[in-house]
Amino acid sequence: MTSEDSFQTQNIASRAASYLWWQRGVIYEVYPRSFMDSNGDGVGDLKGLISRFDYLRWLGIDAVWLSPIYRSPMKDFGYDVADYTAIHPLFGTMEDFDRLVREAHARDIKLILDFVPNHTSDRHPWFIESRSSRDNPKRGWYIWHDPAPGGGPPNNWLSNFGGGAWEYDPKTEQYYYHAFLREQPDLNWRNPQLVEAMLNVLRFWLERGVDGFRVDVLWHLIKDDQFRDNPPNPYWREGADPYQKLLELHSTDQAEVHAVVTRMRHLVDQYQDRVLIGEIYLPVERLVQYYGIDLSGVHVPFNFQLLLAKWNARDIARIIAEYEAALPKGSWPNWVLGNHDRPRIASRVGLTQARLAAMLLLTLRGTPTLYYGDEIGMHDVEIQPAKVQDPFEKNVPGLGLGRDPQRTPMQWTAAKNAGFTEGEPWLPIAEDYPQINVETERDDPFSMLSLYSQLIKVRSAEPALEVGVLEPVETTGDLLSYVRRDGESAFLVALNFGTKPETLNISGMGFEGRITLSTWLNRSGDSVRGNLYIRPEEGLLVRLLTQTQSGDVR
Ligand code: GLC
Repeated sequence: MTSEDSFQTQNIASRAASYLWWQRGVIYEVYPRSFMDSNGDGVGDLKGLISRFDYLRWLGIDAVWLSPIYRSPMKDFGYDVADYTAIHPLFGTMEDFDRLVREAHARDIKLILDFVPNHTSDRHPWFIESRSSRDNPKRGWYIWHDPAPGGGPPNNWLSNFGGGAWEYDPKTEQYYYHAFLREQPDLNWRNPQLVEAMLNVLRFWLERGVDGFRVDVLWHLIKDDQFRDNPPNPYWREGADPYQKLLELHSTDQAEVHAVVTRMRHLVDQYQDRVLIGEIYLPVERLVQYYGIDLSGVHVPFNFQLLLAKWNARDIARIIAEYEAALPKGSWPNWVLGNHDRPRIASRVGLTQARLAAMLLLTLRGTPTLYYGDEIGMHDVEIQPAKVQDPFEKNVPGLGLGRDPQRTPMQWTAAKNAGFTEGEPWLPIAEDYPQINVETERDDPFSMLSLYSQLIKVRSAEPALEVGVLEPVETTGDLLSYVRRDGESAFLVALNFGTKPETLNISGMGFEGRITLSTWLNRSGDSVRGNLYIRPEEGLLVRLLTQTQSGDVR
């Protein structure tokens, strides 16, 4: 290495080092009920998760986002919180939690908790007080409203989980609003005392050492203060999700929500190096508003476009371009491939295309979030009606809206119950677990798991992939390609979504390309000049070299 080379390398490394961990890192969602059970009750727990940290370290992820572990009647599996600062005994104790933080940090893994501020459980002491009388001091912590003038609910708002969103309380003769289950009354974020109480919840966990929060349904927090009716959705058709019948114009995404987000952000910023992530399902131009004025909003407004996209090169190219163009100055992008609310990628697009999706997620510009089990190619599991757990499926059956299929236990080994539990698992385990599991796939260089672990390793070793710029290459037919570049270092990503081979002329991109990874077969190390050949449904990651870098002497 010449001194110039070493200067270059140092320069690139220090540029990457100036980014924050949540910008450089890969986030991995753990749905705690389904990750690892340590005590044989069929439900995952904190000790189980701790026992799998070494696996996560090996996989190379940087942060775990843990879905709710708080005390809860589990009507919505933890998204109905009865005590924000207590651990549900199913998952363990506060001592287990403290150990979880220590063990994660010992392995350089950050821990992100799920914060559920929009609603509590109807068993939360705050709600029990609030409903006890109209003049209870906590009455204003929830959203109570008189019946409509002629009787009946105050307006036409719908619950996300089916039916109306207002529940009548005969004792105090008012309705309360619930955007989700009737057992999940919405909190009133216009009430200053409630805001203080919720900020204290954040403080509690920040003091215990958590590295940040994923904030549940952030765009829901503030509703129209006049409670106007929502307009009908002209595109809704029979057989679709009944909640979509109305446009959520007045019930979500109100301008005042941004002041609330800023309060949270200021609090989080008082602690070093923490992150605030928002769950927000909105069109891009409104989503990016959640970065806040002068970036005073969340660090990461989750970008769910890959969950919802039509799976073809042209649509994905458009999504990338529109998203990149919409990002406010100085903001950091992110991409999500799966979560506990949406069908798994392997079921949405098939296993072969899921390999492309992995390469896409881990080579795009911005923080990637992946869902547990997607890295081994887990698919949705069909749940017999008698086994259904999800309240969404119970309330709105048969439309394919239920979320149990994507929440089945993690598949660790080919042994009984996939090594997840000694007991009876709370949801059935996929029948093909003897082939699709961590232990089997770790030893197979062509498995989904090997692909993921290689992609994550290359990403974290290469500043061009971790923090470099993204240069789109014109999309033709089924081929999506782009270049990631940081200084002298550059990679081409070429993803063939089609079933016919494609070629891409790379002469203008560099002197030669060297294949780093293929989603298909091992072509690593192959050199290419001129036309790059991409097999059907193949994804390629190619290092682009200048003449000097290639070391070519011919
Ligand atoms: C979020 C969660 C989902 C939950 C809902 C209500 O969308 O991701 O699982 O049911 O909020 O809290």
